[in-house]
Amino acid sequence: MTDAGRHPRITIHTLSEVVDIKGNVGNFDVQIVKKARYVDEKECTACGDCAKVCPVVRPDEFNLGLSSRRAIYSPFPQAVPSAYVLNPHECLGNNPVVCNKCLEACEKKCIDFHMSDQTLTEHVGTIVVATGLAPHDPRVLDEYGYTRYENVLTSLEFERLVNAGGPTQGHLLRPTDRRQPKSVGFIQCVGSRSARRGKSYCSNICCMNTIKSTLVLKEHYPDMAVKVFYIDIRAFGKGFEDLYTRSRRQGVHYVRGLPGQVEELPDGRLRVAVENAAGGTLDYYELDMLVLAIGIEPAAGTHKLQEMLGLQLTSDGFFLEAHPKLQPVDAATRGVFYAGCAEGPKDIKESVTQASAAAVRAIRLMQSDQITAEAITSEIDPDLCKACGKCAQVCPYHAIVVDPKKKTPAQVITAACSGCGTCAAECAFGAITMNHFTDPQIIDQIDAMLEDRPSEKILTFACNWCSYAGADYAGVSRLQYPPNARLIRTMCSGRVDEQFIWHGFRKGAPVILVSGCHIGDCHYINANHWTVKRVEKVRQKMEKRGLRPERLQLEWISAAEGTRFAEVMKRMEQLRRTVTEQEIAETIDLLEK
Ligand code: FES
Repeated sequence: MTDAGRHPRITIHTLSEVVDIKGNVGNFDVQIVKKARYVDEKECTACGDCAKVCPVVRPDEFNLGLSSRRAIYSPFPQAVPSAYVLNPHECLGNNPVVCNKCLEACEKKCIDFHMSDQTLTEHVGTIVVATGLAPHDPRVLDEYGYTRYENVLTSLEFERLVNAGGPTQGHLLRPTDRRQPKSVGFIQCVGSRSARRGKSYCSNICCMNTIKSTLVLKEHYPDMAVKVFYIDIRAFGKGFEDLYTRSRRQGVHYVRGLPGQVEELPDGRLRVAVENAAGGTLDYYELDMLVLAIGIEPAAGTHKLQEMLGLQLTSDGFFLEAHPKLQPVDAATRGVFYAGCAEGPKDIKESVTQASAAAVRAIRLMQSDQITAEAITSEIDPDLCKACGKCAQVCPYHAIVVDPKKKTPAQVITAACSGCGTCAAECAFGAITMNHFTDPQIIDQIDAMLEDRPSEKILTFACNWCSYAGADYAGVSRLQYPPNARLIRTMCSGRVDEQFIWHGFRKGAPVILVSGCHIGDCHYINANHWTVKRVEKVRQKMEKRGLRPERLQLEWISAAEGTRFAEVMKRMEQLRRTVTEQEIAETIDLLEK
């Protein structure tokens, strides 16, 4: 952080909030509100004279309320810039009658009560989202008594207590009597691995953090009784199993089972009831202090940033990468990368690795003055465009600019277009050409597939990333599925135009399947939401025209679901057998009228 602060080509905006982001790769405009510090950060030497005279005492957020600070304070010892900050909501003001003490104490005269918030705009080529994490709030697990019992702490609070720069200079003291505890227990998975008790995912860091804490305790207090209550210990990673073994060898008692209830005894000790899963017994332990290994949650503001940048979130609320194996630090929006826990729970080593990768990915894009656009992008024919604005509305990347009021034709920002084809599928005037997946190309494929005995075919549109890969997987796994399935690949299910479906039925298709990635997994942010709406619309039209709507099916099949692909195809074959030659002929007659 200090190195970054000193670097001539790095600007750090502290006390700042990103309020708006416009543009696309190579061309982002980021609007930032920089809050007033009320202290000249260039002049302040962080001598602390101001804080010494400040009469306002508040809980210190950095020490999680275990110590106090003043209304003018340094956020934490290695803060960058090394300057104090004044909280205007806590300060008594600069009225000499009321206070004014800091102004008088500051020899360098760096305190300025007239500073105001500033709005800045930074023009940047790429963005790395590194929004960090939010710790789980253990108060929802009432049985552990956090905040009801003073000697129940979170792992973060414990971290501050054993830190040499913390409120007790690294001495572990029990909050109730300021004495060194003789026994400490750790409860694992607080807020993790249970949807009912927090989040269903593993928070990744808690096991190793607890093991590290037990080693710290055993190093400083060899006689202390240390117990860890756990479901299972996840110590994968270089050297981690060794640490776990070392912790056990040093006498840390690992109990397999999570406590069901914690009670406070009259002397402030804690009575913990645990069902020991290894021994099948109900055990009770009396401990001086209990530490809750709290899990990791997405940072506050994740949703706001997601909306600003048009990003995707996983069902857990973390940012979704473009591809879990091949693009693990890229966002689906070009020019945006992830680092650290913004993308999911991870430890320091993984965060550093990902941050380095994100930096290199960003540099790779920015090193030249030009950006190579993807070949699969859409183009608009200005003569056909009626400037209705529908394409811009459905584009998940905000890559289309149009002003329906001015009636000027829409324009595609090619650098921002990712090629899902949803715009082309939604354009009612045929004004959009999706390069490499044009309407004539797809219509020709439909014609070719239904040329011979169409009534025996299952016409399927499969998105490139999931369903088509799922079909591939079914093939390499040698799964049996009906050989009459005929697949047309589109980049996204969002590309499947209504006219392709009608054309398929007109050409004699008994059934048609549209398939794509599961909702939330679409590689083009949320383009498959439009697929759902479109398929539903076509089904309603089919019903109105007297056609059986179930002849058009929509299924989500992921790349790993080869078995599901085979099952869906078998179901489609059963459905196909219900469609008679007469029904097909009537459909053709109806659609050709
Ligand atoms: Fe598969 Fe969009 S990429 S549905």
